[in-house]
Amino acid sequence: MSKIKIVEVGPRDGLQNEKEQFSPAARVQLIEKLVKAGLKNIEAGAFVHPKWVPQMQGSDKVLRALHKRQDEGKISKSVRFPVLVPNARGLEDALKVKPKEISIFGASSEGFSKRNINCTIAESFQRFEKVMEIAKANKLKVRGYLSTVFGCPYDGRVPEKRVLKLIEKMLKLGVYEVSLGDTIGVATPRQVSRLLEEVVTQFGAEGIAMHFHDTRGTALANVLESLEYGITIFDSSVASLGGCPYATGASGNLATEDLVYMLEGMRIKTGVKVEELIKIRAWLEKRILRRLPSHVGQAGLPLPGTLN
Ligand code: HMG
Ligand code: MG
Repeated sequence: MSKIKIVEVGPRDGLQNEKEQFSPAARVQLIEKLVKAGLKNIEAGAFVHPKWVPQMQGSDKVLRALHKRQDEGKISKSVRFPVLVPNARGLEDALKVKPKEISIFGASSEGFSKRNINCTIAESFQRFEKVMEIAKANKLKVRGYLSTVFGCPYDGRVPEKRVLKLIEKMLKLGVYEVSLGDTIGVATPRQVSRLLEEVVTQFGAEGIAMHFHDTRGTALANVLESLEYGITIFDSSVASLGGCPYATGASGNLATEDLVYMLEGMRIKTGVKVEELIKIRAWLEKRILRRLPSHVGQAGLPLPGTLN
């Protein structure tokens, strides 16, 4: 395996769960730093209800500013800035600032679906159909998330058969990629291999992304296991920011610098500079005023040559 796609979710998944609210201008600053580090897919915000997730207010301003920088040639037009959209109302709001890519997000468990987007799984798919219709008319690329694929904070175990059916439903809607979320960071490599064995047999590995949270320290091990199944797309968050406001106990995503360090050490190209990510973590800590938990961020890089 030689090429990996990293979807940086820090400015969305990360910041949505921080008490410290970042202004749209500060979020743009963060995203520019992530672009400088070499990230090419950066989730830039969410068009959700501000009462539910106030941290994502002003996502329109963020997207507008990023597009302006792309028009001015300050950011390459090849960098993608997907945004989360839960329903038609969210998409109508997003369309005012012309996104090129959106992500719909559903769950594999009823308890999480209700708490996160205030509807059943079946109702969420009805909403997604409307979103897809509008997205197709506007020629948008659409990514699909499925949360709680390895376990739910409200319902506990999630049957694999259900996850497989929901992946099929997502793909039938027309999403180009499905990201499987370990929302509360419970998965171990054994669970990952059990699910991926079926997923890859039924759908292939190409359009499947893995979205690990590092709550119990198993995220990198789960990435290694996923690589065995041919998965090449991973979501991660700089400095391991993040979690989910509707999943008690969810901690940060897998840290982007930990992911990049491990992959590059395995001679798997990412195109991302770990040194830049370490600087971003320091920048974030000054604003958030708490220690951010990424391993590589805390330890720094080893002396040159150590890795050979
Ligand atoms: P609701 O209250 O059920 O919505 O919220 P509603 O359709 O009943 O409408 C109620 C009011 O909200 C109406 O306004 C609507 O216009 C308005 P009123 O008539 O009362 O003035 N409304 C909206 N306003 C702004 N933006 C919208 C919107 N939709 C309706 N999009 C809703 C439903 C989905 C909006 C709400 O539950 C919500 O915003 N939830 C946020 C969920 C969220 O952002 N969660 C975190 C992201 S998911 C995640 O982190 C997991 C992931 O990382 C993967 C993983 O780790 O597993 C992706
Ligand atoms: Mg998440």
